[in-house]
Amino acid sequence: MYVLEKIREDVKESVEKACGLDLKPSMLSEPPSPELGDISTSVAFALAKQEKKSPAETARDILEKLESPPLIRKTSTAGPYINFYIDWEKAGKKVLEEARTPEYASSDEGKGKWIVIDYSSPNVAKPMHIGHMRSTIIGDSIHRLYKRLGYSVHRVNHIGDWGVPFGKLIAAYKKWGDERELEKDPIHYLVGLYVRYNQAEEQDPSLKQEAIEWFRRLESGDPEAKKLWERFKALSIRKFEEIYRELGVEFDSYKGEAYYALNELTNRIVEEALEKGVAVEEDPGTIIVPLEEHGLVNARLVENGRTLYITRDLAAAKERWEEFKFQKNLYVVAVEQETHFNQLRKILELMGYEWWKDCVHVKFGMMSLPEGRISTRKGKYVELKQVLDLAVEKAREIIEEKNPSLENKEETAKAVGIGALKFADLSQNRIKNIVFDPDKMISFEGDTGPYLQYAHVRCCGILEKAGNSAETDVDMSGLEPAETELVKKLAEFPEIVKDAAHKQEPHRVAQYLLELSHQFSAFYESLPVLKAGETEKGRRLAMVDATRNVLKIGLELLGIHAPSRM
Ligand code: ARG
Repeated sequence: MYVLEKIREDVKESVEKACGLDLKPSMLSEPPSPELGDISTSVAFALAKQEKKSPAETARDILEKLESPPLIRKTSTAGPYINFYIDWEKAGKKVLEEARTPEYASSDEGKGKWIVIDYSSPNVAKPMHIGHMRSTIIGDSIHRLYKRLGYSVHRVNHIGDWGVPFGKLIAAYKKWGDERELEKDPIHYLVGLYVRYNQAEEQDPSLKQEAIEWFRRLESGDPEAKKLWERFKALSIRKFEEIYRELGVEFDSYKGEAYYALNELTNRIVEEALEKGVAVEEDPGTIIVPLEEHGLVNARLVENGRTLYITRDLAAAKERWEEFKFQKNLYVVAVEQETHFNQLRKILELMGYEWWKDCVHVKFGMMSLPEGRISTRKGKYVELKQVLDLAVEKAREIIEEKNPSLENKEETAKAVGIGALKFADLSQNRIKNIVFDPDKMISFEGDTGPYLQYAHVRCCGILEKAGNSAETDVDMSGLEPAETELVKKLAEFPEIVKDAAHKQEPHRVAQYLLELSHQFSAFYESLPVLKAGETEKGRRLAMVDATRNVLKIGLELLGIHAPSRM
């Protein structure tokens, strides 16, 4: 346990001992201003009610009986509240020791436990547009957070590689396809075919039937249909992987919809739902789960004899449970699919699967264009690849202008450009909608990713000037307020990481890092470091080193590289 957590525990225990009540988490908080100390408890309200005394009097009584916990230098009451002042000279020394290790903010709470996380999950034969970016980078960051807490994480890319649209693609390719064009630029070529087919269908409705017929052939294993479909899929995935490589994102499985559509598992789960009386056959070939009494729209498991998106998700969830016995099965998917995931959870619950509660829709707001909704079918989208290239190009220009003699220019431009883009998304509460504005999302000024990367570079620079020999046994006597504030911030990091993981909210880490770097600036601008006296210099360098380390770990948790120069 890290220092600050330990202090909170000790405070809790000693208060419990003094008043004979169990403290609820809400009874401990941070006082509204630093003059009131570091930790405050409101337990006197609860006890006063029992003892029919005034809360202020009760607080004084408790304080009298209280044995002061370790690392607390002072306790006092302020009306009904009891406040604790941490001895930062003693605690701070430990904070610095911890905050300078590469393991800082890690834990083993997840040891032997699995998290399954389903993210990115694009549809094949379509380009990844900026809308897919959110799931990809939010999911990646959440996976990093859980790993930090010691969980084993299984990363799934549940790709959309099944459904009638593939019948359309095959039909279109049979009509107009050109092997060489396909090779040249597969995804664009396929989208072109798809759009063309949809347009042609408006003129000639029989094309709809034709597409369905091709899809039926694909389902029944027709070699020609299968060969084309496999080809389209492999070419698409190859393109996706180029983007993942650039983003530094990886997966352990690409089991997508087709895997489940063609798997006995999926038929079996439908059978099971029927046997358990959860699903009913509405018409021959149509099986539904009535959900109206649960305030949801009915879910269709089978239509025209075919399983659907939700049926495959049911099978996938069950398979994941059987394979991993997960603590959590997370779906990082846009809020638009909320109904789908509510249905999924409800059906699992009705089927008697206790673990339905651990299937969580980690939803995020829409990404739209200034001119409106993204629609691949209507050709209204901005490709992710273009945006990534633009971000890196912009970073390259700035480096060229500000630091043309930098080594590893290309690598740094990538880290900075992509870092800016990731941070612009991850620093906002994920549920908020985002309008894609390249000037805002690829900005290097103000509270941005590059600003944090720069703070990290600055720390590295100071340490280098000091010969990278920051002391380990530091003297903390006579801390200045700006030092204490920085140490306090550093001490908060492990709890922030835990909280961010448990709530699946990377923005908590992002916001924390901004606060830390603001605190660091206040410290560095008000106090000398390299020119300070020996005692102060030693510990201030240790603070710079701790800040550097926490910035690095924090940025990595967001999937952002922290170069040591830029
Ligand atoms: N392919 C879907 C889409 O692009 C997202 C899939 C999300 N994952 C899942 N297990 N349903 O909308």
